[in-house]
Amino acid sequence: MKKVAIVGAGQVAEKVHAAYYQTKPEAFHLAAVVDPDLARGELFCQKNQFQKAYTAIEKMLIEVQPDIVSICTPNRFHYENVMHALEACCSVFCEKPPAMTSGEAQAMWKRAEEKGVVLAYDLQHRYSPEAQMLKENISLLGDIYYSEANALRRSGVPGWGNFIDKALQGGGPLIDYGIHMLDTALYLLDFPTIKAVSAYQYQKIGPKKNQGTLGSWDPKKYTVEDSLFGTVEFEAGGILRLNTSFALNIQSDRVLDVQLCGDQAGANLYPGKIYTDQAGELEILKEIASTESNNHFTSIDHFCRKLAGDPHAMIADGRQGFIIQRVIEALYQSAEIGGKVEL
Ligand SMILES: NC(=O)c1ccc[n+]([C@@H]2O[C@H](COP(=O)([O-])OP(=O)(O)OC[C@H]3O[C@@H](n4cnc5c(N)ncnc54)[C@H](O)[C@@H]3O)[C@@H](O)[C@H]2O)c1
Repeated sequence: MKKVAIVGAGQVAEKVHAAYYQTKPEAFHLAAVVDPDLARGELFCQKNQFQKAYTAIEKMLIEVQPDIVSICTPNRFHYENVMHALEACCSVFCEKPPAMTSGEAQAMWKRAEEKGVVLAYDLQHRYSPEAQMLKENISLLGDIYYSEANALRRSGVPGWGNFIDKALQGGGPLIDYGIHMLDTALYLLDFPTIKAVSAYQYQKIGPKKNQGTLGSWDPKKYTVEDSLFGTVEFEAGGILRLNTSFALNIQSDRVLDVQLCGDQAGANLYPGKIYTDQAGELEILKEIASTESNNHFTSIDHFCRKLAGDPHAMIADGRQGFIIQRVIEALYQSAEIGGKVEL
């Protein structure tokens, strides 16, 4: 039986982490929750059958000695909490993004390796049945030289939490939403070596409106980009275009997709399809019916299987977390300086 603690008693902690651990009462002891807001932590314990609420991770680690720590705080606090948990030799499942900077993500990766524990990030779209179908059949595409990762919302500024606060989150749609399609694209492409990135970012709508499909926000407190458009150049010559927004005047409410274009065939993630052209006609080579899947649960499940030594477990590990954080950081740098950033 593994002792589990959760740090940050918010919505993802409840809907994803606690919900997953509760499905396996024989495997997990729901030991503790940490949140600076004690009342919130205690309410979380009551609702989710966790034993005790703490306000400081240091005290919790000494008293509880958990095996697993789930990190579900605002982005700004991922690094310090992950490092405390790793120091105490816990395995860590951390919400995305890994951290605020690539330096932090690199230190987390290295410390997990030194401690010999598992560090994984919740980048769940790579576990979708669609992504797995594309991964299994990726050779059908031939040489993939153009890709797109799109995570666009027309009017989806999050109305809860701290998602419009740059100081706590590190950015807006890129670090919060675009990261999912960026990770899935890099995973499908096998994390190719990156040469340079460039990006443009805009803050045109968030500070002017206050209501959207994901609730309302205070426009005066809106400090993140509301859209960002970037290009990632790979050492081998291909490029990945990344488009992401919380708010953008597009027709669809939401666009969430990865597109891959190879010299033999092309593919889309949602819906999962591989196709080619035969004398001007589209020929579908493979497709998968869209199904309801809990990708978050699959993601935590792989982390737990990794802990148990399963050689087939696949996680978004410390190294991949560092690469993703480095790309995000470089895209923001490029948007700020108005030029290309070499990696
Ligand atoms: N993988 C996904 O699709 C996904 C979805 C939602 C959120 N997330 C990530 O999960 C994290 C939390 O998001 P959320 O929507 O649950 O936010 P939330 O605002 O609902 O919850 C955050 C909780 O952390 C607590 N907290 C603040 N500072 C803390 C600290 N220093 N130590 C411990 N707890 C602290 C807050 O009191 C709050 O209870 C973010 O990093 C977000 O990016 C990921």
